[in-house]
Amino acid sequence: MTPQHSDRVRRSFSRSFDSYHAAADQQVWVADRLVTALRDAGAPTQFHRAFEFGCGTGHLTRALTEAYGFDQLTLNDLTPDARATAKAHGASFLPGDVETLAWPAGMELVASASTIQWLNDPMRVLRAAAEELAPGGWLAVSGFGPDQYRELAQLGSKAAAPGLCAVEALAEAVSEHLEVMAMGEARRLQLFPTPVDVLRHLRRTGVNARAQGAWSKSRLARFSTDYIRAFGTEEGVPLTYHPVWIVARKRG
Ligand SMILES: C[S@@+](CC[C@H](N)C(=O)[O-])C[C@H]1O[C@@H](n2cnc3c(N)ncnc32)[C@H](O)[C@@H]1O
Repeated sequence: MTPQHSDRVRRSFSRSFDSYHAAADQQVWVADRLVTALRDAGAPTQFHRAFEFGCGTGHLTRALTEAYGFDQLTLNDLTPDARATAKAHGASFLPGDVETLAWPAGMELVASASTIQWLNDPMRVLRAAAEELAPGGWLAVSGFGPDQYRELAQLGSKAAAPGLCAVEALAEAVSEHLEVMAMGEARRLQLFPTPVDVLRHLRRTGVNARAQGAWSKSRLARFSTDYIRAFGTEEGVPLTYHPVWIVARKRG
């Protein structure tokens, strides 16, 4: 990740750190889905050493620690605010950019939810994780696919994260070292009363790191009209979430 890009992402998530937790319904769903996939794939209930990157306010951390025991859990995030998440779960905290950080090797589990889409080269991070896992170790990672926020993309917004990837690309990135145990994707529509509520939701969940430019009154009015014309329903306006996830195991 370039320093400018990681600075922008860090500032954006720091700004929304307090509002993120309650607003992130979709990320809660994905975190639970990922842990269910890990369990269904037959992962052990206790891990000696585990690493989660992009822990944020801890939606995945909560789901993981409810389902599994950890002797040593290390959490990472770009924003130092996430140290509170580590403290709340009795984990160690390793701050910084996961794309440049030397993270602990020989983990039995590397996990991450809703973070890789912010990386410049998510596949490189997945390949590194696959290489560094302990033999028999598990990888459980979710990101977002190309249909993420498709309404915004269609209206010409730059809000989309840089690292959207198809679920097949996740599998491909790890297939040299890992056996893919499960993978999946979903297209989930969240409804909002108005397009302005969509923007508010994005701000609360930190997804404004790339939405450049000021929102003048006329720009906002045009955005609202275009959004309603293209996607409006009687129940409100939709925003598409396209979570993708993979669970894989290192050959022993
Ligand atoms: C959408 S939140 C997801 C948080 C949490 N995993 C969850 O499931 O709710 C994405 C998190 O990734 C972090 N992040 C973004 N880029 C990162 C990077 N390069 N290295 C580490 N963390 C990063 C952000 O600070 C943010 O907390």
